Amino acid sequence: MIPTSAASEAPAAADARPFSGFRLGKSLVVAIDGPSGSGKSSVSREVARRLRAAYLDTGAMYRAVTLHCVATGVDLHDGAAVEAAARDIELFISTSPDLESVTIAGDDVTAAIREPEVSSAVSAVATTMGARAELIRRQRALIAGAGHRIVAEGRDITTVVAPDAEVRILLTASEEARLRRRGDQLGGTQTDAQLKQQVLDRDARDSAVVNFHQAADGVVTLDSSDLDFEQTVSAVLDVVRIVAH
Ligand code: DC
Repeated sequence: MIPTSAASEAPAAADARPFSGFRLGKSLVVAIDGPSGSGKSSVSREVARRLRAAYLDTGAMYRAVTLHCVATGVDLHDGAAVEAAARDIELFISTSPDLESVTIAGDDVTAAIREPEVSSAVSAVATTMGARAELIRRQRALIAGAGHRIVAEGRDITTVVAPDAEVRILLTASEEARLRRRGDQLGGTQTDAQLKQQVLDRDARDSAVVNFHQAADGVVTLDSSDLDFEQTVSAVLDVVRIVAH
């Protein structure tokens, strides 16, 4: 889902123009949820760039708490301890779509939170309700403080974090497309069984606490199975134009 040719980037300039005067002075929160491998993060970041909006990757916050627990010896099965870690963590996340940066107590963990150890452990934090409540509180504060425009993505943004967002989208894709994309992202280094474990098993665990497979009332479902990156970005921008005119 990453643009690979200059041709696929060409519509960017064309798309940027209509948004320069779009909803001037009015707030615009675009909430995007979806399962792993739906292309949510890369698409949301690019949509934020074109809208000249801030961008919030809420999954990165769950990953940061997970890394913090592992690094400080917090037992991920101890719900009270995980909740306390979520409350105590000194977490910074960039909300610029052009700067990917996550720090814990000033230490750069931007790359470390993407390591496989974190990916395989993160559901333990995501299914700890006390930790979720704390991260939801922080996410709402980040959205409120981001200025008048933000694209926020995750699993419960359309339903829990920002149910009043002007635009709410569920970005889905077939299992086959999601496995293929995640495999491409990881450079073809994983077996089919490893990919299934990383994409489908993790989603199954996370689905126990949030529903990100069916759209809630008022949420637009966008199926990206047969769309490339540029087409998916354009489809999201079309929904923004129509819903938040
Ligand atoms: O999108 P991601 O893979 O970086 O997300 C990491 C984990 O965080 C994933 O297992 C689901 C969880 N998550 C969540 O429960 N709620 C969110 N709003 C965002 C992510």
